[in-house]
Amino acid sequence: MSNEALSNLSHESRRFDPPAELAASANLTAAAYAEAESDQLGFWAKQADRLTWETRWDEVLDWSNPPFAKWFVGGKLNAAYNCVDRHVEAGAGDKVAFHWVGEPEDDSRDITYAELKDEVCKAANAITELGIEKGDRVAIYLPMIPEAVIAMLACARIGAPHTVVFGGFSAEALSSRVLDCGAKLIITADGGYRRGAASALKPAVDEAVAKVEAEQPGLVENVLVVRRTGQDVAWNGDIDIWWHDLVEESSTIHEPEFFDAEHPLYVMYTSGTTGKPKGILHTTGGYLVGAAYTHWGIFDLKAETDVYWCTADIGWVTGHSYMVYGPLANQATSVMYEGVPDAPHKGRWWEIVEKYKVSIFYTAPTAIRTFMKWGDDIPAKFDLSSLRLLGSVGEPINPEAYIWYRETIGSGKTPVVDTWWQTETGSILISPLPGVTSAKPGSAMKAIPGIVADVVNDEGESVPDGSGGYLVIREPWPSMLRTLWGDDERFKETYWSRFPGMYFAGDGAKKDSDGDVWVLGRVDDVMNVSGHRLSTTEIESALVSHPKVAEAAVVGATDEMTGQAVCAYVILRDTAGDGGPDIVKELRDHVAKEIGAIAKPRQIMIVAELPKTRSGKIMRRLLRDVAEKREVGDVTTLADDSVMRLIAEGAATSTED
Ligand code: WTA
Repeated sequence: MSNEALSNLSHESRRFDPPAELAASANLTAAAYAEAESDQLGFWAKQADRLTWETRWDEVLDWSNPPFAKWFVGGKLNAAYNCVDRHVEAGAGDKVAFHWVGEPEDDSRDITYAELKDEVCKAANAITELGIEKGDRVAIYLPMIPEAVIAMLACARIGAPHTVVFGGFSAEALSSRVLDCGAKLIITADGGYRRGAASALKPAVDEAVAKVEAEQPGLVENVLVVRRTGQDVAWNGDIDIWWHDLVEESSTIHEPEFFDAEHPLYVMYTSGTTGKPKGILHTTGGYLVGAAYTHWGIFDLKAETDVYWCTADIGWVTGHSYMVYGPLANQATSVMYEGVPDAPHKGRWWEIVEKYKVSIFYTAPTAIRTFMKWGDDIPAKFDLSSLRLLGSVGEPINPEAYIWYRETIGSGKTPVVDTWWQTETGSILISPLPGVTSAKPGSAMKAIPGIVADVVNDEGESVPDGSGGYLVIREPWPSMLRTLWGDDERFKETYWSRFPGMYFAGDGAKKDSDGDVWVLGRVDDVMNVSGHRLSTTEIESALVSHPKVAEAAVVGATDEMTGQAVCAYVILRDTAGDGGPDIVKELRDHVAKEIGAIAKPRQIMIVAELPKTRSGKIMRRLLRDVAEKREVGDVTTLADDSVMRLIAEGAATSTED
């Protein structure tokens, strides 16, 4: 547990009760907790009725072969139909689905549900024409443009699981994901806009395709390219096709097929404790039930009047559940923004809130801390009075940031929901309910109705209030991951073996004296940098793949802005000498090339040795102490304790940025 997490606990006494008006009108009321407790499966069946099913299920849950769950067995539905067509059929075709805002000013577009339906149908026809069929995998590597949503829904519509790869990931990361899930088609763009300039995307795809070709010739049959910036791109006439040539010419008529509730909807890769990212598999029915229910209940969505904005990128699970599937299933009107918060000025987000009268706003603590640093006078220039509910996700929110968010952005009135969940859980599992639960800054409070969470000790026993341990989920839930793509064994091993019969999330947590849950962060080798999950092992492997590196150890050190920051200790090969004057830059760039710019270490220390236990395990705890500039902890199990002294001296002279 970090010092910061510990100090957060001293804020236990602060609490905010739900505003009376919200308590009276909220979608989810206190009764929901009792209702779910008395009949859990009945409760989930009721949530599933939020969707339109072509065939109703025979059985809510088949848990006869744990941990492999089947939800809504026998039910058939189409996710895209649920997100788009049914709203048009219900007469809401003219309702805005997205206020899309490009980064260049004056580059915006409102897309109604009727327009979205036409676009999705065209794209579904287009990718069908490219030979994509039910069950085929499609990789999507796009900036935050409407085509990203359209591509996801087109895949869902024809039953082709998508795997969206964050645009900030490297060609290497893209190719490994394409190979792992066997994607036949990649949907991308020439580039996007970032901080006022056009950035390129297609060259990374070309590089990835070449890598895939070397491993599995012929796997990628086509690359469908959206023209976003108009920049020049290299063109491979055998496989590359322009989106505007194919999709724009396609028919707007497409009959959706209805799929089994357990038909795969998507694979989302996320960092685990080993070097290889895990392909988290979500299936159609349960996932959509979870996304729609939580988006409706936790954000208290009133679809007729609210304007909702989730700032996550589509390349992460938050973008999937709370920008695409949840809001669209609920017929919400959302904002989608292409760019960064500080282009062309640091008030851009608040300008967008003012312009579209955003009422529900969902972002990450790292963004909130950045705005705090930029100063109150920036949001003060804008009218934020439309906001009625704020949300936070991705990492523990420190109470200072929580209170600033509530006071400065929410004018001291808006509830803040601190929502805990994971790529694996598919939707939010622990959060206050805005109209029911009191909120304490820094606590995700309690499991939402339908979810049974607990904090257990090493033996898997529930800890008493006031104690800490491991966060677990005791009962299956509809939007749970079904397996890891192609690796059932790793799925069992990673999540279900530590505490038999329980889902182990990999997070440490504490129950306070009221029994409310405080999530304290990862207990494994996964770091959380700006709300993004990064694996220490994956970055170590990237460093070691550099010809000058003999050995590397990576730790996540507490960082005021990004929550954690990547700090690397590197031993060079003898043949590399001192590595040369640019060795740190060279290694940072190498990590960016192997994984993506988000994984670049903040700090790299070139050292002669690493602290190891007598059994040869690297003592990361000590390295974290050095990186956080704390006095180093207990070194009695260290094979050679002079190593630590050397490292601590090196840290004083290392490069940081
Ligand atoms: C962390 C993001 C504390 C946690 C949706 C989890 C949080 C990991 C919170 C999942 C929160 C997410 N409070 N910690 N409200 N939300 N986390 O898969 O460590 O990118 O295990 O999903 O983020 O990250 P992932």
